[in-house]
Amino acid sequence: MRAGVLQGKVAIVTGASKGIGAGIARAMATAGADVVVNYASDAEGAGRVVRAIGEAGGSAHAVRADISGGAEAAALADAAVARFGRVDILVNNAGVFRFDPLEAITADEFRRHFDVNVLGLLLLTQAVVARFPPEGGTVINIGSIAAHRRAANTAIYSASKSAVDALTQVLAKELGPRGIRVNAIKPGAVETEGVHEAGLIGGEYEASLVSQTPLGRYGQPDDIAPVAVFLASDAARWITGELINVSGGR
Ligand SMILES: NC(=O)c1ccc[n+]([C@@H]2O[C@H](COP(=O)([O-])OP(=O)(O)OC[C@H]3O[C@@H](n4cnc5c(N)ncnc54)[C@H](OP(=O)(O)O)[C@@H]3O)[C@@H](O)[C@H]2O)c1
Repeated sequence: MRAGVLQGKVAIVTGASKGIGAGIARAMATAGADVVVNYASDAEGAGRVVRAIGEAGGSAHAVRADISGGAEAAALADAAVARFGRVDILVNNAGVFRFDPLEAITADEFRRHFDVNVLGLLLLTQAVVARFPPEGGTVINIGSIAAHRRAANTAIYSASKSAVDALTQVLAKELGPRGIRVNAIKPGAVETEGVHEAGLIGGEYEASLVSQTPLGRYGQPDDIAPVAVFLASDAARWITGELINVSGGR
């Protein structure tokens, strides 16, 4: 075990096979946590993250579980306890995003977003906090500045992330008396595999986002990860129910 602010803690990071989740998993392992690297389909990506953590002297284990709808929530929480003996930190990072104008919206896309971004997050939180030790634990939700910026053509995604803001603040009140802190990180645009796949890098779209960002660039997963480590650490022991923009000022 390595010295660090999360030494002795066990973290589950959902959607950690790539992107922001992979960055958070690596940073939490560097801070001393044992990390469950959750993924849905990308076993290779999750394996790469686990190997990189191991090569850097950390401890991680990949667990496949589709968080959508919550059906596999208990299995994921149990896998963490089975492997590492406890669970103290849940990072609800897994998420889907697709931007469409009103006329292109479908019920299937609505359900896909809300099943992963909202219901999956809620039911996994339910399963994991039930396994937190008596002294408590911490939940970090990855929301988005889309929840309050509410740009055109993002109705479903922005609504799902507004729900994440609401769940964060409701659950902070509900779980505070049990020593469980619940906060959200709201990234601005971050260069990830998902953002590349959605075609949101390059061209006019990127130029427009960067021009609206006081710090003048796209974010990287490593810009987000240290904030998650801080929120999970004892240094944040008096912080709960906060929605923290990590967005270069956008
Ligand atoms: N990138 C941005 O600009 C940005 C900005 C604001 C907020 N966010 C939020 O940050 C989070 C991560 O975004 P990202 O850009 O890093 O995404 P990404 O590159 O598309 O990666 C998404 C991750 O989520 C996992 N995932 C998707 N559906 C899942 C499911 N049903 N069950 C379990 N895992 C699932 C994927 O796993 P597999 O690959 O194994 O399928 C993958 O590891 C999301 O919540 C997103 O809304 C991103």
